Amino acid sequence: MEEDQCMMGRTTPSGEPLLLPEDLSEMLAAGTKEIHEKAENTQFVKDFLRGRIRKELFKRGAVALYYTYSAMEEEIERNKDHPHFAPLYFPVELHRHEALARDLQYFYGPDWQSQVSCSQATQRYVDRIHQVGQEDPVLLVAHAYTRYMGDLSGGQVLKKVAQRALKLPPTGEGLEFYQFDAIHSAKAFKQLYRSRMNELDLDLDTKKRLVDEAVKAFLFNMEVFDELEEIGKSIQEEVLDAGMEVHGGMGGDIS
Ligand code: HEM
Repeated sequence: MEEDQCMMGRTTPSGEPLLLPEDLSEMLAAGTKEIHEKAENTQFVKDFLRGRIRKELFKRGAVALYYTYSAMEEEIERNKDHPHFAPLYFPVELHRHEALARDLQYFYGPDWQSQVSCSQATQRYVDRIHQVGQEDPVLLVAHAYTRYMGDLSGGQVLKKVAQRALKLPPTGEGLEFYQFDAIHSAKAFKQLYRSRMNELDLDLDTKKRLVDEAVKAFLFNMEVFDELEEIGKSIQEEVLDAGMEVHGGMGGDIS
């Protein structure tokens, strides 16, 4: 106990906070390392990183994110005063619901709401977020960690890839999700977020449950990626089918 207090506020020679293996931020980073690597290696993510993303699929990805963040931020609002979540409540800095609504309006037009729907894999993720928020709110920490820390880590790279691949305007329309206007240094904010997670009054068993829930959150994300990958294949097939039909309509192969 005394040692813990003594450690608090101490920093490494480079100014980073000194962390212990049983600090929640360290347990989450270590406990999700393996699944993070798997997520990075899903076909959808690999294609995205190579700039191989079609607009239709990117739009559907934005729809999945819209439903996910709407659920997460609804549950965060419900639990914003809960002592196990309150220190992580950063609506101005982090919340993505409105940015995603603007992105969808850009892609689908003013009646976007009547054009989008929640996919099966996204619905399973959304259901879990609502269940956690209503039955076991401490586990919301794992969901917020998985998405927001990830967005702050890889977001800028993904934004540039998408902007180039989809030829989106340099002014940022359609990519507001990736833009955290109220965060000037992602690195400093992530440090603040980690220290807030570490100050939560949680026993070791709860921290372990949080690691398990974060792994689940990664898996939900991977299921959404796999679903998008499948949709991508069927869009390709539709395009191909349509091409064949035109061909047939022309009265057979001209060659
Ligand atoms: C952290 C890259 C996909 C969630 C990081 C970091 C990098 C990275 C370099 C470390 C940043 C730092 O230490 O400051 C990538 C790449 C991805 C990818 C290249 C593939 C496109 C994902 C996905 C998720 C995710 C799909 C979850 C949905 C996280 C989280 C962290 C993180 C939660 C914070 C780890 C921690 O410090 O505790 N990512 N990531 N990442 N990423 Fe990813």
